[in-house]
Amino acid sequence: MSRQSMILAGFFFNPQGDHRLSWRHPRAPRREFLDLDYYRRLASIAEGAKLDAIFIADHLGVWDTYGSGLTHYANPRLEPLSLVSALSAVVKDIGFLVTASTSYTEPFNTARMFASIDHISKGRVGWNVVTSALEEEAVNFGRDSNIDHATRYERANEFLDVVKSLWDSWADDALVIDKSSGVFANRDHVHALNHHGKHFKVKGPLNVPRPPQGHPVIVQAGSSDAGKELAAAQADLHFAIVRGEQEGLAYRADINDRLAKYGRKAESLKLLPGILPIVASSTSEAQEKQAYLESLMLDEVAVDLLSSWAGTDLSIYPLDGPVPDLPEEASYNGWRTWLAIVRNEANKGLSIRQLARKIANTGSVPLIAGTPRQVADELEHWFVSGAADGFNLMFPLLPEDWENFMAQVVPELQRRGLFRTEYEPGTLRERLGLARPANRFSAG
Ligand SMILES: Cc1cc2nc3c(=O)[nH]c(=O)nc-3n(C[C@H](O)[C@H](O)[C@H](O)COP(=O)(O)O)c2cc1C
Repeated sequence: MSRQSMILAGFFFNPQGDHRLSWRHPRAPRREFLDLDYYRRLASIAEGAKLDAIFIADHLGVWDTYGSGLTHYANPRLEPLSLVSALSAVVKDIGFLVTASTSYTEPFNTARMFASIDHISKGRVGWNVVTSALEEEAVNFGRDSNIDHATRYERANEFLDVVKSLWDSWADDALVIDKSSGVFANRDHVHALNHHGKHFKVKGPLNVPRPPQGHPVIVQAGSSDAGKELAAAQADLHFAIVRGEQEGLAYRADINDRLAKYGRKAESLKLLPGILPIVASSTSEAQEKQAYLESLMLDEVAVDLLSSWAGTDLSIYPLDGPVPDLPEEASYNGWRTWLAIVRNEANKGLSIRQLARKIANTGSVPLIAGTPRQVADELEHWFVSGAADGFNLMFPLLPEDWENFMAQVVPELQRRGLFRTEYEPGTLRERLGLARPANRFSAG
């Protein structure tokens, strides 16, 4: 299997847009983020443009680490698997990449939910495997603080092994349903796991037959060393933060070395960096749009977010002064990907306020602002050079930025032969150019 000839694309979203205060924009939705029709509209636009998937982010708590989050942002959302089970019934072609945590669920429930949605959606679901790094999440699950970084990733690895084994516990031909003989299932083709690991003890088999895709598509995001190892060992897609073509190429080379250790080929793991496109009829109009969004940002929210990413309460320091010493990445229990980004930016000499506003306004992903042709040029360069197999598209203002991109940039990519114009038949996995996994029990 060689590298695919078309750009892969997912639409990654937080319910009200990826700029944290875009909800204040006059054209932003209000309570619609609690309504199925809102998501149906977003997904239908993506489906009209023949995108591979929509990618639903998630967290297991409100965002309120340092006190201003709840008032100005809070980040509430619908539970994504529930949302997708409804959405996949009304939006018929596009795939769904759904976030679920390995730290605060059990493998049996997770395997069962994803297998069920894979059946219901006819093979269109993927799982964004996250390890949940926020203190606000830990305290909702009987803990006083976060699970330490190494243990989270160790648990995630075992979790994935168990889930994949549960999906394989029914061979593809295990269901017989022979009415005359009365044989429902071939018990020789249904396997117990008898798994006794460090974190889990699971007998199995699952009580849902093997999913149409064999295994729903596995996505991993999180670029610490342990995160990249997990991606190389277990994932089909890796959602990375890279800030330019050169960085993307170096990142790809690093991932390829790790894949080789696990006996995997480069094509078996697709690299999808996040980007924040802002499309307008001219560069100056794109800049004006961005400037307006930036005017909506509040310093206290920006400092709160930066504090959360840096694992340090920065509101106690003078805001126009320098960023103080930050925790060491190697011993940090929070999101190391974000900490690394903050450290890198802090080295450029910005004040706390400047850095906070920069991070809060553009997140951590590269902002690509310009005309449809300029944005398409940039995506083409990344793709052709091998720095990206596709992109996770993130939009500051929903649904508007999303609609503009679909109406203007996708046709440009299609004209260049870089993006499909019709869906190919088959499952999400097949469209992404990923092999259907062999069944680990049948394969011996
Ligand atoms: C681009 C990106 C998107 C992510 N999306 C989510 C998400 O939706 N929910 C979540 O709990 N964690 C999310 N994560 C967090 C990671 O899964 C991981 O838990 C976190 O980055 C800590 O791991 P690290 O130390 O390897 O960075 C995301 C991380 C990245 C880099």
